[in-house]
Amino acid sequence: MKVHVRIKRFNPEKDRRPYWADYEVPTDPFDRVLDVLHYIKWNLDGTLALRRSCAHGICGSDAMLINGRNRLACKVLVKDLGDRITVEPLRGLPVIKDLVVDMEPFFAKYRQVMPWLVNDEPPPARERLQSPEERARIDDTTKCILCAVCTTACPIFWGNGEFLGPAALVAAHRFIFDSRDRAAAERLAILAERSGAFKCRTVFNCTDACPQGIEITKAIQELKRAIVLSRA
Ligand code: SF4
Ligand code: FES
Repeated sequence: MKVHVRIKRFNPEKDRRPYWADYEVPTDPFDRVLDVLHYIKWNLDGTLALRRSCAHGICGSDAMLINGRNRLACKVLVKDLGDRITVEPLRGLPVIKDLVVDMEPFFAKYRQVMPWLVNDEPPPARERLQSPEERARIDDTTKCILCAVCTTACPIFWGNGEFLGPAALVAAHRFIFDSRDRAAAERLAILAERSGAFKCRTVFNCTDACPQGIEITKAIQELKRAIVLSRA
């Protein structure tokens, strides 16, 4: 089959504004959008810029807007889109070129929630053990691959550059509810600020978009509850 592909392109070194470029691509229904983009780059226009690495939904580097929804290009099959495909860069982050956005603002917010284990107690002889129940508490939020799909699907994030965004809140959840960590109070204080969890208006865009199926809105609600209880 042939698909018609429209890509929003922009090279800040020569374009005054973004424009749509059109391509006809021979493809198989079971090809992924990433294969289609590779075909364009390798056969039609080598100047197309995109990020990807694993091609198997693990690294999170090929997040983009596909037919109006935030997706990973390596996880979307052509057969599920039909014969017209539009591809745009993620919203809310500066475009470096074509489908490549500047992830630094995203990672700056991630770093704000201290996404690492804090425990100054003397280390045990072997490892810091967790029960299966304790591990289950953070099972969902440990699945995050930092693709930025959730944060860049969030209208609060688009409208308020201060908001930490869903991905940073998911990272905070993963450590706050980790039985081995000792910095929950410090993180909850960060999340209680104006840029934190209460900026979330439960729109659910993040949960709908997450390629890992993480229940993000539920995790954010758990954080809000923990903030309130920490101040009771
Ligand atoms: Fe991506 Fe989901 Fe992690 Fe958000 S929570 S960064 S959508 S994997
Ligand atoms: Fe790694 Fe798609 S290329 S997730």
